[in-house]
Amino acid sequence: MENRRLPLANTIVVTGASSGIGKACALQLDKLGFRVFAGVRREMDSDALRLEASATLTPILLDITDAASITSAVDIVTTAIGEIGLAGIINNAGIAVAGPLEFLPVSEIRKQLEVNVIGQIAVTQAFLPLLRQGQGRVINIGSLGGRIAMPFIGPYSAAKFAMEALTDALRMELRPWHIHVSIVEPGFIATPIWEKSKEVAGTIFNNLPRQADHMYGTIIPGVRETYSHAGRTGTPAEEVARVIIQALTAARPKTRYIVGRGARLGTSILERLPDKLRDALITWWLTR
Ligand SMILES: NC(=O)c1ccc[n+]([C@@H]2O[C@H](COP(=O)([O-])OP(=O)(O)OC[C@H]3O[C@@H](n4cnc5c(N)ncnc54)[C@H](OP(=O)(O)O)[C@@H]3O)[C@@H](O)[C@H]2O)c1
Repeated sequence: MENRRLPLANTIVVTGASSGIGKACALQLDKLGFRVFAGVRREMDSDALRLEASATLTPILLDITDAASITSAVDIVTTAIGEIGLAGIINNAGIAVAGPLEFLPVSEIRKQLEVNVIGQIAVTQAFLPLLRQGQGRVINIGSLGGRIAMPFIGPYSAAKFAMEALTDALRMELRPWHIHVSIVEPGFIATPIWEKSKEVAGTIFNNLPRQADHMYGTIIPGVRETYSHAGRTGTPAEEVARVIIQALTAARPKTRYIVGRGARLGTSILERLPDKLRDALITWWLTR
């Protein structure tokens, strides 16, 4: 790989490594010789990762919404790497809460922000002393949905917009220590997130008041299918992992990396359109 810096530290923490982009990152980094601590929430996911990786990769139980779990993960990594510190952290774990904002239970919206925003900050705060020691990098996973808001995944878009702001703020705050902070913005990627989200959204929607069905019931199934199809036919997670590794290893990391189907089109054209025209195009695409 070109422009590879040669850090003293070569340990990376990846959150949400049980599937999709996080798993692809953990396995690729492992193959490249990095020491990887891969965050998962279930023992069975630890076992599955171990089967696919070298003996160097260490799965750690890490729920990014649980303070005790974060502390325990930091302790494990600190004990293992000592003063060398971290070469990077990949804030990848995430969920997608979908449904009409008018009726989505506030608890679900909170959960979305808790996982995709607050959890990312909590993990970053906890690992920053190790990142500072190793002059490591922070890689946040944003989304096309964090550049262009999409209907019926409003909480998800809100969380990803928040990650854009937090990435920019953190990058400036950490400048004195030369800790680079980048955000990777994937378009539609073929990972389990879309099916998980569709399943959860189905349950949420079935429990909404009848009024919700009356008002949104005709539009929601088509929208859900369009998102699900875009996910199924999306860019492979391995491609995003390659871009994340570029952000980790480039001599001069970029602040933003756009990757995957729809992302380039979205950011080069859709984002620049007048709001009402963009609204119309997105609504047409979702309901056609
Ligand atoms: N797929 C796309 O089209 C796309 C596009 C743009 C951005 N992204 C972003 O990419 C990231 C990875 O998503 P993915 O598409 O690879 O989906 P995924 O396969 O569903 O992976 C999500 C990962 O996050 C973990 N996770 C969820 N809640 C967690 C929590 N509270 N604590 C720790 N881990 C948790 C999941 O663990 P469990 O298995 O235990 O649930 C899983 O390992 C997310 O931030 C997502 O928003 C995805």
